[in-house]
Amino acid sequence: MSKKKIFSGVQPSGNLHIGNYLGAISQWVDMQDEFESIFCVVDYHAITVEQDPEELKKKIIEIAKIYLASGIDREKSVIFQQSSIQEHTEFAWVLNCTTARMSDLNKMTQFKDKSGDNQENVSVGLFDYPVLMAADIILYDTEVVPVGDDQLQHVELARDLARRFNSRFGDVLVIPEARIRKEGARIMGLDDPTKKMSKSASSEANFIALTDDPAVAKKKIMKATTDSGAEVKYDPEEKPGVSNLLVIESLLTKTSIEDLEKKYEGKMYGDFKKGVAEAVEKFLINFQEKYNAITDEEVRKILDDGAKKIKPIAERVMGDVKKKIGVR
Ligand code: TYM
Repeated sequence: MSKKKIFSGVQPSGNLHIGNYLGAISQWVDMQDEFESIFCVVDYHAITVEQDPEELKKKIIEIAKIYLASGIDREKSVIFQQSSIQEHTEFAWVLNCTTARMSDLNKMTQFKDKSGDNQENVSVGLFDYPVLMAADIILYDTEVVPVGDDQLQHVELARDLARRFNSRFGDVLVIPEARIRKEGARIMGLDDPTKKMSKSASSEANFIALTDDPAVAKKKIMKATTDSGAEVKYDPEEKPGVSNLLVIESLLTKTSIEDLEKKYEGKMYGDFKKGVAEAVEKFLINFQEKYNAITDEEVRKILDDGAKKIKPIAERVMGDVKKKIGVR
């Protein structure tokens, strides 16, 4: 039996943090043996908000390096850059016209969060971005999309658009489904554990960037907001701060939450935070060692080879779509 296909991606904007790693990338690493895997650096998503061209160019390479340093194996998985395959934007246009509705996009919570009070002045691309994401996914016959929980609504839209296309034009598109981690799908901000950790957070104390100096990261954990009480117990409602740190240590060290609760039984929050901080420091030292060993040239080649390898899938699916809608 052939392997099921997965597709996922990260935007080359802002600082990638351990939320992106634990919610998405580390999940991909765990899945790449079982699935036929495609991981994309979604650069055309990043330009929905203003980017400095030089910075963007660097970020694209940085994201691919992060995939590799996290353990994505180029022999097992394809890594490529979205803008190298023009069918993404072409297919997004077709979906815009045939299946996506203004009412679908008006519902997207991430658009509301990102545009805030400024809805009239943000780019059309920011509003339309979930359709491009749907195109990314459907273009490769993707069955499973491993993401963090903030992307669930977008994957559901991709599902709906593929279904609508099939019911109007005949069965050509594969219907994807999201895969999110039970714990870690939503890593919370260190300074405010009631909101998700975010690369666009106003304070650096909110997140641990994958490029943070390990000693600085350690201090950030020591300063993280914890809760009232003294017991180290997993309870996201009553103890969001403690629970978030428990999830971080659990995923980084591959230790169950129950075992960690036992480890910290009778200990103070200070000891607990020290344990989490050490786990984060160790992870970052190891991660950055791998990251620094990869050259920009190697990455450029991996991205270009990846695009070449999967371009035929995109051409085939886009070719079918063109026939179905009557332009070919
Ligand atoms: P992006 O770049 O914002 O985030 C990349 C991945 O990180 C996850 N994530 C988190 N997981 C846990 N806790 C957090 N605090 C946290 N913050 C972010 C996200 O859920 C995501 O999985 N639109 C997407 C990129 C994209 C894509 C795609 C993804 C474009 N096309 C096709 C999958 C398939 C985005 O902006 O993710």
